[in-house]
Amino acid sequence: MVGVDDVINKLSTVIDPDLNKDIVSMGMIKDLDLNSGNLKFTLELTTPACPFNEQIEEDVRKAIDELDGINNLDLNVTAKVMEGRSLDADEFMKGVKNIVAVASGKGGVGKSTVALNLALALSKTGAKVGLLDADIYGPSIPLMLGMKGTEMDVAMDQEKRKLVPPEYEGIKVVSFGFFAEQEHQAAIYRGPIISGIVKQFLVDTLWTDLDYLIVDLPPGTGDIPLTLAQTIPITGILVVTTPQEVASSVASKAIGMFDKLNVPMLGVVENMSYFECSKCNEKHHIFGKGGAEEISEKHNMPLLGAIPLNSGIMEGSELGKPVMITQPDSPSAEAFTVAAKNIAAQCSIQARKVQEEMQAETTPTTS
Ligand SMILES: Nc1ncnc2c1ncn2[C@@H]1O[C@H](COP(=O)(O)OP(=O)(O)O)[C@@H](O)[C@H]1O
Ligand SMILES: [Mg+2]
Repeated sequence: MVGVDDVINKLSTVIDPDLNKDIVSMGMIKDLDLNSGNLKFTLELTTPACPFNEQIEEDVRKAIDELDGINNLDLNVTAKVMEGRSLDADEFMKGVKNIVAVASGKGGVGKSTVALNLALALSKTGAKVGLLDADIYGPSIPLMLGMKGTEMDVAMDQEKRKLVPPEYEGIKVVSFGFFAEQEHQAAIYRGPIISGIVKQFLVDTLWTDLDYLIVDLPPGTGDIPLTLAQTIPITGILVVTTPQEVASSVASKAIGMFDKLNVPMLGVVENMSYFECSKCNEKHHIFGKGGAEEISEKHNMPLLGAIPLNSGIMEGSELGKPVMITQPDSPSAEAFTVAAKNIAAQCSIQARKVQEEMQAETTPTTS
């Protein structure tokens, strides 16, 4: 007779390829019930956006298939996003499981476009997502969403004294553009005030429960990334670059700063990576090749995606109709989805590190 122990032993041969650990010790098996050959359990994945979700489910079914004496499997697959940052160390934003800050060395590489479409792609997988436009000097998210700056009604929860973020296509959005009376008004503000605004957007906003908060940073190094890194624990930095040498060498400088602040780096996404010609179906590397790869090798971080240069992406940003929404089946949207899943996987990897660090703190060492 097959017993619960046999099932658990068999399931612990299934490895999560991202976390490199078996699914049983990761706690992914829940509510297991075995009754005269009828097996029932829940497989709780670490994120709905994991690129390996289907593979893990398949491996689980295969493993159970190999067990003698199981007549029927009732498998329920769910996902619960892991906490990729130490919530114990954050008294303000406990409901936000992961904070991913999107950085670039210089402006114009498409950082805001990428941050926005990645947020939408993550949301499409079923994750709860927020987007904070922290580029106070040049907030571009309202325009890209067709949300007209100050006409946006940002409510205030009077009791909690917090901002209630408006929603767009299921994601919660806050931008300085919702408050600035004139475009680029922020340029007149100096360091301490800017830091204060960023802090408010982070901790005085009712983000409530979020799996991922994507933060669109201003380009380069400066007060805003510093404030972010010093105010709250974040899951990590995502670097956006273009293939050109200049873009990647300035990106390296920004990476150096985050390294000094001990902020984890999640990886790099190359934007405007190639142009796919609809006539010849070939990829043309208009801006050269290999910028992101070079960063990835130099800084030992994974390359998480390559987004094509595409007029649909450009028009989406200019017209306030993001490509993820208007052309969800296009190759561009597919590229964003792949990148979003890889980022979610990196967040899970980070979460495991956070867990292990916490365990190491609480478990006394024996010598
Ligand atoms: N993959 C892409 N294909 C075509 N145009 C793009 C792409 N990514 C960004 N753009 C365009 O490039 C310009 C700069 O993008 P933006 O996201 O504002 O950059 P950043 O935030 O880095 O300054 C915008 O006009 C945007 O529409
Ligand atoms: Mg921008």
